[in-house]
Parts: sequence; structure tokens; C-alpha cells
Amino acid sequence: MTAPAPEARGDVTGRLHDRVAIVTGAGSLGPGWGNGKAASVLFARAGARVFAVDRRADAAEQTAGIVRAEGGECEPFTADVSRPDGVAALVEACLRRYGRVDVLLNNVGVGVVAGIEDTEPRHWDLVHRINLTSAYLTTRAVVPHMREQGGGAIVNVSSVASLGATGDRLTAYGVSKAGLNHLTRAVAAEHAATGVRCNAVVVGLVDTPTVYAGQPDADPAVLRARRARRCPTGAMGDAWDVAHAALFLASEEARYVTGALLVVDGGLSLRFGAAV
Ligand SMILES: NC(=O)c1ccc[n+]([C@@H]2O[C@H](COP(=O)([O-])OP(=O)(O)OC[C@H]3O[C@@H](n4cnc5c(N)ncnc54)[C@H](O)[C@@H]3O)[C@@H](O)[C@H]2O)c1
Repeated sequence: MTAPAPEARGDVTGRLHDRVAIVTGAGSLGPGWGNGKAASVLFARAGARVFAVDRRADAAEQTAGIVRAEGGECEPFTADVSRPDGVAALVEACLRRYGRVDVLLNNVGVGVVAGIEDTEPRHWDLVHRINLTSAYLTTRAVVPHMREQGGGAIVNVSSVASLGATGDRLTAYGVSKAGLNHLTRAVAAEHAATGVRCNAVVVGLVDTPTVYAGQPDADPAVLRARRARRCPTGAMGDAWDVAHAALFLASEEARYVTGALLVVDGGLSLRFGAAV
């Protein structure tokens, strides 16, 4: 069961009026709020018609159910966005359903805890396929449609692990997210004149179900407290912090913002001297 959706932090009505938004990884790995699930609900509250993609049908359907229960518009779709056929199918289905695509939130991500010597080639490939290849595939597929429509907004969900050594032994993950940052800036530079903007939310320690799903034997309260202690604010962020940043970058309020890496980490990366 997912806890009831919290109220938005401020009125978001109309900020994505009539926009069509594809969200990848729109479910969450367990009970509670993942970043893509919160963003889907928030985008719908802001007026978007949300195309909620997840490789697990139940996860996408759950998100769509929450949006619809609030009176919003959401179409669930099952696809693996790390594969070209999955991406082709989802873009075709979104265009068939809504006739356009204005926003793309590239939110899928996976981490493997390992340093350089114990990162197996299969883990390296998996992490890069899910975190980076997926965004390359979806971006490549939607850009022609956005350009034809006169513009669009792509938002990538990155991580502070891309900015410096966090001490988490997330070598492949950090490298893949650094690649995602570069993809963000490369697409922004290439498309500035076409009206297609591309930005990233660079996320710190956030309290999402994945954190606990990866360590089923650990006490969630202990894990939560350990992560909170690492945060300069004394608390982790949550999925709504990420969703609100993504909403800003997706909306017309950010119409002159492209190629930005918006750090949402409560100051965490300041501790390892990262510069954006
Ligand atoms: N939770 C954190 O502390 C944190 C910190 C920094 C960055 N992030 C980033 O935020 C994003 C979302 O993280 P989360 O913890 O909210 O998500 P999550 O792990 O709960 O996953 C979201 C959804 O993505 C789906 N998914 C995974 N691979 C997929 C694929 N190949 N195709 C389609 N769907 C797929 C999963 O089924 C899941 O429902 C990720 O990119 C992650 O790297 C999270």
C-alpha cells in the first residue's frame, strides 16, 4: 500500500496545462514514493496528461490509479526503457494516445555497490544501460517530435554521485550519472535553437523505497537514521523535493533554462567539494 499523496508544496495548478509528459520509472520499487511516482502525480496536478512508463505493469498501474483518483489524466505503459524496442513502443503508444509529447522525465536508475575492482563487467553494462543508454534512447526518439511541435522539455534525474566521491562505492553508478550530466548539456547545446530544452536534477540522499529494497535484512529505521546523519540538514530529502525541481525545469517558468544541473541535495555535495 502507498501512503496517501501529500499535498503539493504550494499550488501547482496550470503549470503544465495541457502538456503531455512521459515519465520513465513512474512506479516505485516498494511501498511509498519513488521520484518518478511523485513526479507523475505532481505533473498531473499541474495539468499534464502523464504517460507513466515502468517495466513493471503493476507499478505503472498503481501510479496511474493514484493520478486518476485525484481526477488527473494518466496512461500506464509497460516497457523496458533500456532497450530500443521498448523505447520505440512507448513513444509510438504515447503519440497514438495523446498525439504529442512536451515533457520527458528520464528517471530510471539503478546502482550497484562496488568499487572499481569488484565491479563485474555485467554490472557495469547493466548500470550504464539503465542509467545512461535509456536516456539516450528516449531523448533520441522524442526530440524530432518536440522539434516539430516547436519545443519541449527534457529533464534527466542524475545523482550527486556524478559530482565527486561520496564514499558509497558506487563507481559504475557515478560514472553513468556523470555521462547523463554530459548528455544533458550536449543535448541542450545542440537543441537550444529548436526550443527543446534539456536539464538535469542532481539528487542527493532521498528517502525512497529503493533505499530499503536493496537491503531487505536491515532495519529501515537504522538505515534512515544513518543516511540522515550524513545530510548537512540532518534529514534526507524526499521524492517530492525531486518532483518539484523537475516540475520547475519542465515548466514554462524555466523557458530560458537549458543545460542546467540543478543540485537538490540539502548541501550534501558541498561537503565533497563538488563544483557544477
Ligand atoms: N533514492 C535516492 O536516494 C536517489 C539519489 C540520487 C538519485 N536517485 C535517482 O532517482 C531516480 C529514481 O530513483 P528512485 O529511488 O525513486 O526509484 P526506484 O528505484 O523506486 O525506481 C523507479 C522505478 O523505475 C523502474 N525501472 C527500473 N528500471 C527500469 C527500466 N529499465 N525500464 C522501465 N522502468 C524501470 C522500477 O521498476 C521502479 O518502479 C534514479 O535515477 C536514481 O538514480 C535516487
